Amino acid sequence: MTASPKTEAPPQHFEVRPFPAPVGAEILGLDISKPINNEDFARIHRAHLDHHVLVFRNQQITPAEHINFSSRFGPLEIHVLHQFHLKNHPEILIVSNIKENGEPIGLGDAGAYWHSDLSYKPQPSLGSLLHAQELPSEGGDTLFADQHLAWEALRPDLQQRILPLQAEHSYLAKYEELRAKNPWRPKLSQAQVDQVTPAVQPVVRTHPETGRKALFVSEHFTTGIVGLPQEESDALLAELFAHSVKPEFVYRHRWAPHDLVFWDNRSLMHLAAGTPDHLRRRLNRTTIAGDTPF
Ligand code: SIN
Repeated sequence: MTASPKTEAPPQHFEVRPFPAPVGAEILGLDISKPINNEDFARIHRAHLDHHVLVFRNQQITPAEHINFSSRFGPLEIHVLHQFHLKNHPEILIVSNIKENGEPIGLGDAGAYWHSDLSYKPQPSLGSLLHAQELPSEGGDTLFADQHLAWEALRPDLQQRILPLQAEHSYLAKYEELRAKNPWRPKLSQAQVDQVTPAVQPVVRTHPETGRKALFVSEHFTTGIVGLPQEESDALLAELFAHSVKPEFVYRHRWAPHDLVFWDNRSLMHLAAGTPDHLRRRLNRTTIAGDTPF
């Protein structure tokens, strides 16, 4: 987290309005293209920790402003699929189903399975920010599931059983399956494969800022529980996956023009609910680096 050099910026009068949902809040009246003083930034940071997903309404911002705001929370990751970086802004991954001249302009199936961003890296992401560029007239929602609530709602015997466990997370596990469905997905070079070797993570992580525990397994990236026979591991993971995304933990985001959505990957999993093929959808994503889960 970096303090702004613009500590003297005038306050912005904005509202944090929690959603009538298990998780999430919208921020009204803030313009992130304008300087944000340290007091306002601290309020935003607190709201992020409390609500886990913040929707900043009506942000008519440039890619550079999106990057600047994201960078106040930490260094930014550069996604392994360099094919879909925004030109001149490698910190931005284009998430889009649009094809131009027969070529995809972005990662069209990002978020096709529930996941937490970059959990396949030894230091997964702190949080991600998606900014709406072009929205379909129907579909295209994003779902967020609160993994603190999921942990807290688990049966005590299951909590005890999984607390000491670790699991492997792999970027490559589902890559070929996704490529078979979506042949436009690039074949990975050896250099890209080398960037995404599997990582081992705790099955239950502790949020480094709030101290709250959260389930930390996902159908996209988690391949097995370390030390368990495959069959037992598969059964346990299936039970945890089903539990972790129960409706009572989920907020469904219906995108509005110029929404900027900022979620905490240490607290949530997310899923792209899907867009009809004939409709265009495009968002820009930044991803903030995080620390080693414990
Ligand atoms: C993602 O998983 O980063 C993309 C989510 C979305 O497109 O809704």
